[in-house]
Amino acid sequence: CGIVGYVGGQSALDVVIAGLKRLEYRGYDSAGVAVIADGGLASAKKAGKLVNLEKALVEAPLPGGTTGIGHTRWATHGGPTDANAHPHADNAGRVAVVHNGIIENFAALRTELTGRGHDLTSETDTEVVAHLLAEAFTSCGELAESMRRVCGRLEGAFTLVAVHADEPDVVVGARRNSPLVVGVGDGEAFLASDVAAFIAHTRSAIELGQDQVVELRRDGVRVTDFDGADAHGDVREYHIDWDASAAEKGGYDYFMLKEIAEQPKAVADTLLGRINVEGALTLDDLRIPSRVLRAADKVVIVACGTAFHAGLIAKYAIEHWTRIPCEVELASEFRYRDPILNTRTLVVAISQSGETMDTLMALRHARDQGATVLAICNTNGSTIPRESDAVLYTHAGPEVAVASTKAFLTQLVACYLVALYLGQLRGTKYGDEIRAVIRELSRVSHEVERVLETMEPVRELARSLADKKTVLFLGRHVGYPVALEGALKLKELAYMHAEGFAAGELKHGPIALIEEDVPVVVVVPSPRGRSVLHDKIVSNIQEIRARGARTIVIAEEGDEAVVPYADHLIRIPVTPTLLQPLVSTVPLQVFACELATARGNEVDQPRNLAKSVTVE
Ligand code: G6P
Repeated sequence: CGIVGYVGGQSALDVVIAGLKRLEYRGYDSAGVAVIADGGLASAKKAGKLVNLEKALVEAPLPGGTTGIGHTRWATHGGPTDANAHPHADNAGRVAVVHNGIIENFAALRTELTGRGHDLTSETDTEVVAHLLAEAFTSCGELAESMRRVCGRLEGAFTLVAVHADEPDVVVGARRNSPLVVGVGDGEAFLASDVAAFIAHTRSAIELGQDQVVELRRDGVRVTDFDGADAHGDVREYHIDWDASAAEKGGYDYFMLKEIAEQPKAVADTLLGRINVEGALTLDDLRIPSRVLRAADKVVIVACGTAFHAGLIAKYAIEHWTRIPCEVELASEFRYRDPILNTRTLVVAISQSGETMDTLMALRHARDQGATVLAICNTNGSTIPRESDAVLYTHAGPEVAVASTKAFLTQLVACYLVALYLGQLRGTKYGDEIRAVIRELSRVSHEVERVLETMEPVRELARSLADKKTVLFLGRHVGYPVALEGALKLKELAYMHAEGFAAGELKHGPIALIEEDVPVVVVVPSPRGRSVLHDKIVSNIQEIRARGARTIVIAEEGDEAVVPYADHLIRIPVTPTLLQPLVSTVPLQVFACELATARGNEVDQPRNLAKSVTVE
């Protein structure tokens, strides 16, 4: 979910709605606002996207006020209805609260409140907070103190932001696990899940720590822990170093198209300053002592969604270049199966947002077991890097489209950097290869650029497949996770049945899915080097073609062996085998995006999804 709060001299409604627009990627099941006006609380909320709320506000405008809060929801408890939309209020309609996260003990609190005569009307876990705040306010007369008292009673993960009509110039926020950032302006202050919500007003931000309550007034901000002690040393102030235009569409129809196009720059920026003039890697920001990295005897990668696919590719690179065993695991599964970790385990947590709860919980578990945790993250100062031993930032810039593209490519770059760096540091028999690959890496952004220039036939092909029910994806070696990512993109965007398989596994079951004219995308490894892989996949293409599949083959320039078996051929530049995903993924992103458009789907905000999932 996305949360905004404002107090200052401007129209709170305008600031909050503009902020919510920037946060809609976090959820778009419903939206709502509340402002303090004329001594009371006025609010509006609507199921569906923010635009529904905006229409409702035109039909029934709210009175003007300069203190307000807003919310855009990704539903957890209770369906996406008007009644379940946030803000939630107490029975007297004096307090309003918005929430991101899950309050795990809400059922017990609800029973308790009902027993005391409160009337709860929604199915959400959030409503209990409004009622508890109202009770606490009655006894202490202060919203910040009420929030501290209520937080002490809540279990689970939450960000809460509240206003009370009896304290009209105050907005109060609280944070446990879910993200919350403060923006400090001149005579105004902001609260939001992400700085994007207030970057148009101020570049000065404060990152809240765990279990903190913040009180916002026009002339200042006070942060305390849940017991009321000032949290001076425990808050981090920083300057936001990107401007609002980085999170705008800039002439593209969709953020996703813009972000696909930005990939060459994102890749180059992620490499910037990390390769020295001698062609060696200098990962100065990786603050893990060399002795720890040298002593590591196992690498475990944890991530979710697209980031997990980056991790799968990293495994091939890490094991090959460093000879250290590497496991990759879905973050949501990791801590529940009692994994074997110790002080010699290096855990790599990959996350674009740095807020994914599953990944955060996995890294906490790893640190509890004594492992060293390295985050690969795209969001400066977010929770995952803050709680890790070190972080390697990807420099993709803000990614707004829910389906990840440029962040994925930069995660791959970061994974290669980690693998090559470990190889360089530990010295393996692949020293020459490592040096050669580092040279290739510095050229790879140009190759990504070249792929983008040749995408028109891919778009045309995608449009011609808009009425298909199923698309299958095959790959071998690093092409296998690429196939998984191609299928995920299609599911997310086109809502089609799509599956990725290891090409060699096909004959063990999935080949039964092949029937006349089923499109099958095949990611073909380079015929150079490990040519055995290439030859095997050429046989796999023949096997599916013999059974009627329509083959869409992604193959290196100059690979003539695939030509007779390709109904459609997509060429990619020649790259070292392990780096191929940097170029082979791009056509799959374009393919999914175009297919979604042809099917009339919402590209940037696919149904049911959210970009930053801060619940487990
Ligand atoms: C969500 C998004 C996915 C993303 C995953 C991991 O499920 O919809 O696109 O890959 O989270 O996100 P992260 O921010 O941790 O990379």
